[in-house]
Amino acid sequence: MKNKKDTLITLDNFIDDSLYNKKHGYYMKKNPFGESGDFITAPNISTLFSEMIAIWVISFWEKLNCPKKFNLIELGAGNGEMMRVLIRTFNKFPQFKKSCKINILEKSELLQRTQKANNKEAKIKWLNNLNRLNNFPCIFIANEFFDALPIKQFLKKEKKWYERNVKFVNNKKLEYLDIPFDMQKFEKEINFKISYNQNFIEYSPLTTKYLKTIIKKIKLNNGGILIIDYAYLEKEMKNTLQAVSKHKYCDVLNGFRNSDITYNLSFNLIDKIIKKLGPCSSLSTTQKGFLTKLGILNRAEILSKSMPFSKKADIYFRIKRLIDESQMGHLFKVMFITNHKNKFKLGF
Ligand SMILES: C[S@@+](CC[C@H](N)C(=O)[O-])C[C@H]1O[C@@H](n2cnc3c(N)ncnc32)[C@H](O)[C@@H]1O
Repeated sequence: MKNKKDTLITLDNFIDDSLYNKKHGYYMKKNPFGESGDFITAPNISTLFSEMIAIWVISFWEKLNCPKKFNLIELGAGNGEMMRVLIRTFNKFPQFKKSCKINILEKSELLQRTQKANNKEAKIKWLNNLNRLNNFPCIFIANEFFDALPIKQFLKKEKKWYERNVKFVNNKKLEYLDIPFDMQKFEKEINFKISYNQNFIEYSPLTTKYLKTIIKKIKLNNGGILIIDYAYLEKEMKNTLQAVSKHKYCDVLNGFRNSDITYNLSFNLIDKIIKKLGPCSSLSTTQKGFLTKLGILNRAEILSKSMPFSKKADIYFRIKRLIDESQMGHLFKVMFITNHKNKFKLGF
């Protein structure tokens, strides 16, 4: 962007540069997780979250008739904390452990190094392309992965569609600029009518690209994907773009390359996309519903029985953050996509 007075880029390109610019991108230069970082994710709140995911994965593998070899793929593994607890739990199930080929898809080299440091003893394959997976059944896990992918925004004004762009004025000041957009042509290109009954659209081309590969793998080799993310179920899409720095919301443009930019997934849109790629089936629920059905409270009770009060209180305080309706319990949703013949329902 040097030596030019004004530069204009689409919102998804802006987010991509802000988060994933090779040298200056937020996720490429910083480990943002934890109390001392910018935000905290469920695996870093309580190990019980990852234990529940481990139990879900093992049960799903059983439902797939315990394949002797299968791929477990974590998409966007952050600081590797969830994988650490998954593997610790898997170690208690030797037959499962022997069958499981563990993979991580991670874009940030810095975070790959953190993940390796957090999982020193483990046999993990780091991927940069899902097409390189072996042809075994695949179980994909995506906790706060899709909300970190760049999105486009489209808005309708007086029956006309506009695409949101970001303008770098004198390469210093940043502002939004909405530019007329040929929605019909775009929908032809993507072969999908995203504008039906909408006045505002958030669409991630990269999410569609990943879903295409994942559904192809599931159809070919069996398996499924578990998505846990900021999401909503209503049909009408809305503007959910946000940025976070030091555990507080901040301005998306002011936070360029120094804050986490995210959005809330429309599960309705994802459902439409995967049904088009199908045949496959999907189930969705809240994080509260999912973790409660998997027995997180029973597990906490067993674990804390002989603990002193302070430790017991800490366990329940952390679980409350995960399942309370005013905290992550409702804001986070869970979606399970699988082969349409598979009737596995645990957690839903
Ligand atoms: C919000 S963090 C979530 C981390 C972790 N799942 C957790 O819950 O703590 C998003 C993660 O996805 C990674 N990521 C983002 N885009 C990616 C891409 N296109 N391919 C692989 N990893 C990506 C980021 O580097 C980061 O590790």
